[in-house]
Amino acid sequence: MPSEVEKDAITGTETTGHEWDGIKELNTPLPKWWLYVMYATIIWSLGYFVFYPAIPWVNGFTRGVLDYDQRTDLDRQLAEVREFRGELLTRIEGASLAEIREDDELLDFAVRGGGRAAFAENCAPCHGLGGGGQQGGYPALADDAWIWGGTLDDIYATLLYGIRSDHPQTRFGIMPAYGVDGILTREEITDIAHYVVSLSGETEDAEAAARGAELYQRPDLCVTCHGENAEGNVFLGAPALGDQIWLYGGTVAEITAQVHNPQYGVMPAWIDRLDDATIKMVSVYVHALGGGQ
Ligand code: HEC
Ligand code: HEC
Repeated sequence: MPSEVEKDAITGTETTGHEWDGIKELNTPLPKWWLYVMYATIIWSLGYFVFYPAIPWVNGFTRGVLDYDQRTDLDRQLAEVREFRGELLTRIEGASLAEIREDDELLDFAVRGGGRAAFAENCAPCHGLGGGGQQGGYPALADDAWIWGGTLDDIYATLLYGIRSDHPQTRFGIMPAYGVDGILTREEITDIAHYVVSLSGETEDAEAAARGAELYQRPDLCVTCHGENAEGNVFLGAPALGDQIWLYGGTVAEITAQVHNPQYGVMPAWIDRLDDATIKMVSVYVHALGGGQ
């Protein structure tokens, strides 16, 4: 132990007196700013001990004078969210579809809150996530083509009662099985199929298409339901045939098959499966996918 403090010759700083192999340790003081920051954190931590839960105890911990608890805090926040949701749901139950659409807060909640989730759960298996549709008769809901109408009220009615569902108020529409029931010959049906293809593209057989056009327009045939310009009819559920959007395919063979022996799409009624607020929110969500009228 050196009795008196030794000073380093070069820096003039005191040494600690420790020495290894001729190298002496300088006793450089801690920077002032560093010390003050440390004192400040000590004072802060004392405050923390007093106000918040901090020190483990025999059974439990000191609760702090604020009695703060993250779990209680989370519970409180969740309760607030639930109350807010409940309030919005009650307002949606009481509002008409048009009122929901005009109220920014309700619209946002219907689309992004309830509607999207309910769609993903109940509708996406058939209509695809985001309503893109699927092959085999599941229409896209995000486009402008509507078989049964694309206003909010149309969509709501489609959801409530379904299409060819077991509900008595279901939407319903059929077309004759022209081939199976012997109404038209195979040649006539092929001619009509060529005409239908020509409505939205090139046909390989213009003569057949011309013969098909005449048959199509015959008052007792296709024109009745699908319209003079093949624009479709939302009251009968007859889709447009000239828009290149197909439930069952747009080749001559696929159209021939449909006219020979039609397939029909079935959608369940949701009135007994989902509550009214949810059906409204899903309707608003579908309407907002982009094709709503
Ligand atoms: C089991 C499959 C299935 C489920 C589940 C289903 N749909 Fe459908 N949906 C269909 C089919 C098939 C059609 C086409 C019916 C037809 O050919 O007219 C359809 C048609 C529709 C239409 C009419 C489209 C138009 O162009 O007019 C809407 C709107 C619709 N669905 C919305 C929904 C919503 C919203 C849900 C969820 C609550 C849902 N669907 C669940 C099968 C389904
Ligand atoms: C009584 C009304 C009615 C008549 C008449 C009718 N259709 Fe249809 N047609 C429908 C309905 C309803 C559907 C929709 C089936 C579905 O949604 O699943 C349909 C569907 C179709 C489809 C399928 C469209 C697609 O997107 O895949 C084709 C093609 C078609 N009809 C062609 C014809 C042709 C051609 C004729 C005349 C020979 C005809 N239809 C006569 C009601 C009719």
